[in-house]
Amino acid sequence: MTKKIIFLGIETSCDETAAAVIKENEKGTADILSNVISSQISEHKKFGGVVPELAARAHLENIEYVINSALDESKLSLDDIDGIAATAGPGLIVCLTIGLNIGKSIAAFSNKPFIAVNHLEGHALSPGLETKIEFPYLLLLISGGHTQFLIVKGINQYEQLGTTIDDALGEAFDKTAKILNLGYPGGPSVEKFSKLGDKTFFKLPEPIINRAGCNLSFAGLKTAVLRESKKINNNEQMKYDLAASFQNTINNILYKKTKIAIEMFKKKTQVQKVKLIVAGGVAANKTIRKTLTKLSKEMKCEAIYPDIRFCGDNAAMIAWAGIKRYKIKLLDKINIEARSRWPLDKNAPYMKGPGLKL
Ligand SMILES: Nc1ncnc2c1ncn2[C@@H]1O[C@H](COP(=O)(O)OP(=O)(O)OP(=O)(O)O)[C@@H](O)[C@H]1O
Ligand SMILES: [Mg+2]
Repeated sequence: MTKKIIFLGIETSCDETAAAVIKENEKGTADILSNVISSQISEHKKFGGVVPELAARAHLENIEYVINSALDESKLSLDDIDGIAATAGPGLIVCLTIGLNIGKSIAAFSNKPFIAVNHLEGHALSPGLETKIEFPYLLLLISGGHTQFLIVKGINQYEQLGTTIDDALGEAFDKTAKILNLGYPGGPSVEKFSKLGDKTFFKLPEPIINRAGCNLSFAGLKTAVLRESKKINNNEQMKYDLAASFQNTINNILYKKTKIAIEMFKKKTQVQKVKLIVAGGVAANKTIRKTLTKLSKEMKCEAIYPDIRFCGDNAAMIAWAGIKRYKIKLLDKINIEARSRWPLDKNAPYMKGPGLKL
């Protein structure tokens, strides 16, 4: 029997301070020995979004306790751990630096291998914690900072098929929640209140829906939500109708663009039985899951979602990405630095800003 690898993962890229201890198992998935997350929601709530300096200070205050809790819960000591993985980007540099430096220090003093993980690779591989999935698969990554379709060809091998040309989907949810004063964090509250509304009441735009392949755009939709919100005054029902109409428009956009991405994936890989993995914080949204499961059935594909625990930021997915990289000897040096921008496909064109041709 080959030795099963155990990693400590550390995540501080945004507003969650997280640490986890993960062990490979016989099924080719992971035993979650611990998965500790200290959320900063209460700190950022009054500002309606993440304040980088406050986030960094909270990481500093919490990180030692979070790592110790993860080790305690796992019932292992540092001696039992085979390597340390910490998120090195993309994200807020002031936040990333904290988890990254602690991870590097632990690796240095305990003389263990260190892996600097791309947070997006953490999301991309997160369903593998519970489900063994063969490569290649189609990934729809929908999070607070990113919205992308990628072919996942293997560990460290990604080809981008499409991306947002402006806002990320999580950002669109958060801004809609802010406009409608539905509370923070935005995504879950929009999902909750949209259940009380009429999804056909407001007609909202689906930007670039009939062009630009599977690239996406949400800025015009956000502006339309802002414009329509002026008609609401204090009518609570209309507020819910607007939340429902927004959620419905998102479902329609994702249905149409994912259909295009599936066709592109088939053409490029020659794989007909497509596995569609939907990951990132927004993948927690149940009506999006329902929409994409329906599409997958129609297209004879298989839709796979990580457990809700592993959709938003967590260190289990970082430790898991660390194990996967360690096994193919993708180790990092201790002088590696944090990166605010770090695309999974380094050859993908930059799709933002003036002069962009679609
Ligand atoms: N149920 C939900 N419906 C819609 N959006 C949701 C839901 N739950 C969480 N979100 C959104 O997910 C986002 C957070 O996801 P995540 O933690 O992966 O993002 P991030 O780490 O900040 O960004 P990135 O992973 O791109 O660096 C937020 O924008 C949040 O509103
Ligand atoms: Mg994330």
